[in-house]
Amino acid sequence: MSGRAPARPARGEPTAADVRWMRRCLQLAARAEGRTAPNPVVGCVVVDGRGRKLAEGWHRRAGTAHAEIVALDALAAAGRRGDGATLYVNLEPCNHHGRTGPCAPAVAAAGIRRVVIGAMDPVAGHAGGARWLARHGVEVVTGVLGDASEALNRPFFTWARLRRPHVVLKAGVSLDGRVATRTGASRWITGEAARAEVHRLRDRLDAVLVGIGTVLADDPRLTVRGVAGGRDPVRVVVDSRLRTPVGAALLAGAGQGARVIIATTAAAPASRQRRLEAAGAEVWRLRDRGGRVDLRALVRRLGAAGVLSVLVEAAPRSTPAWWPPTWPTRSSCSWPR
Ligand SMILES: NC(=O)c1ccc[n+]([C@@H]2O[C@H](COP(=O)([O-])OP(=O)(O)OC[C@H]3O[C@@H](n4cnc5c(N)ncnc54)[C@H](OP(=O)(O)O)[C@@H]3O)[C@@H](O)[C@H]2O)c1
Repeated sequence: MSGRAPARPARGEPTAADVRWMRRCLQLAARAEGRTAPNPVVGCVVVDGRGRKLAEGWHRRAGTAHAEIVALDALAAAGRRGDGATLYVNLEPCNHHGRTGPCAPAVAAAGIRRVVIGAMDPVAGHAGGARWLARHGVEVVTGVLGDASEALNRPFFTWARLRRPHVVLKAGVSLDGRVATRTGASRWITGEAARAEVHRLRDRLDAVLVGIGTVLADDPRLTVRGVAGGRDPVRVVVDSRLRTPVGAALLAGAGQGARVIIATTAAAPASRQRRLEAAGAEVWRLRDRGGRVDLRALVRRLGAAGVLSVLVEAAPRSTPAWWPPTWPTRSSCSWPR
């Protein structure tokens, strides 16, 4: 042992405290999972030179203040400034005028001395905040919990890079590899814990998608139940011939707060489209592939509509269409009771 005190990390190097505060940013950001599309989830913490938290905040919804501004506003509301403080944020501060003003100049104006960033913003027009801050005399450290920061925002990164949603394939599978009983009932082949997990997934992902076979067999609501503060995802049905009944449970509240999209093909009768639209559904006529909805065209259209993530509740006839997983970037498998 040298007996010397540990050297202060070089400028631009993260400390153990940086990692701890970045973890807090990720916790804050995760509170808004499934609520910010087409924006990412972002958390922010401001810490003074003695390692005390001065303020924190997170981005709640597209169109509202970014996490950095929420935290800086909390700081100002407490009658303090960020002079000499470090600001932690899991995504690079923006430097563009969108629905809200640019964050990087606001961070510098608050007197922040050092900014620690998780992942860099993948959107070309939004990035550049880190460089702007460095040019204006703020010390910038990047890539702290970078992988975890990117993983938490997987839907946003997928959408930003590929212009389509992140797809999660979910299947309740029995030990003998089935997704329903011999009579076709699937509702109860999984246990409480697996069903609760499905509701948590629906709550965090922007849309839930099923095939018309499931609508006709189970009449699911596709809502979120049993999750405190839960919100319902956009509901999507792939239905090449528009067989969805106008009385289907998933159409409850459609067009009046609930968004229901029925993806179909040119072959579907116009009269059924009119009835479903009158029931509040959006009917999307898409290119077909072998007479069925072209799923690639569907995910592209969902991406263009600002849907960052889709939970595909897979069933026997439609699962192969999503497999091999060239595009699902995560799968969720529930074990039977
Ligand atoms: N255990 C589980 O995790 C789970 C989850 C969901 C459902 N299920 C069970 O699965 C059963 C229903 O299964 P299902 O086989 O009828 O599957 P499904 O996925 O619910 O529906 C399949 C139908 O989707 C339509 N479709 C439209 N575009 C498609 C495309 N590109 N590729 C494939 N299909 C497309 C087709 O009908 P058109 O040609 O008329 O469009 C097809 O017959 C029910 O018993 C349900 O309870 C189990």
